[in-house]
Amino acid sequence: MSEGARPHVVVTPDAAALSRAGARLWVDGARAALAARGVFHVALAGGTTPAELHRAVSEESDLDYGWHRTHVWFGDERAVPPADRRSNYRMAKETLLDLVPLSESQVHRMRGEAPDLDAAAADYARALATVVGPASSAMPELDLVWLGLGADGHTASLFPGSPVLGVVDRSVVAVDGGPPESPRRLTLTLPALSAARRVIFVASGAAKAEAVAAVLEPPPGGPSDALPPAARVRPAPGRLLWLLDEAAASRLSRTPRAHPAGFTPGASGTAGA
Ligand code: 6PG
Repeated sequence: MSEGARPHVVVTPDAAALSRAGARLWVDGARAALAARGVFHVALAGGTTPAELHRAVSEESDLDYGWHRTHVWFGDERAVPPADRRSNYRMAKETLLDLVPLSESQVHRMRGEAPDLDAAAADYARALATVVGPASSAMPELDLVWLGLGADGHTASLFPGSPVLGVVDRSVVAVDGGPPESPRRLTLTLPALSAARRVIFVASGAAKAEAVAAVLEPPPGGPSDALPPAARVRPAPGRLLWLLDEAAASRLSRTPRAHPAGFTPGASGTAGA
């Protein structure tokens, strides 16, 4: 993998330090976007890992000046109502959205409860195209996309072997094939995720170590479509960062890593600034 294409990998001692480092990366991304375009479009990851990160972000006073120019989007959502305990929106609402000064028009929820998920996907794609833009591109250029990692190498709701991994002309799709407790989902597609100005994966805990190694240190020469979905999120060089705690990084053997203390997010080529 060429140097430029290699993701930045930051490893923190534990999950608490990961959340603090993630909050500083959020500040870095927000500052770059607000300085360059006067608005910050950020997409949240689902699952459980982001909860502590969100709480750390809500306590970042360096963001106070910019919340009124921030738009929050979602990388994926389960096909459940927003108040359902499985809803990614509900998790974000409880850990971040209710804790910071965002108006309703600044939070763009995926309508997982919609009876017609394909229509809900198309509606969300239209909102991304209209609000985020650029109009000249089929894919929205979000300033920062947060992503989690499943133990099977999925990210957002892009699961191994899913036919939507081959979608190249839509930014949002409805999927089936998620885990039994929430099989139907809405998700951003690989090209939509890869169009972002910066993508940050967060993974914590030993249970993710094998998946992290499968993504960051794949066997050489394998076909691209054999890679885990998370390995197929490919923003432009310099725009991909993995934020791990030691436990999640424990199976890495040849990946250079920066410790947060020595890592200056801005120096990582905050792309799109
Ligand atoms: C979802 C997420 C999913 C998540 C991973 C990791 O809706 O479930 O988008 O991609 O990020 O499954 O989940 P945990 O953080 O709970 O381990």
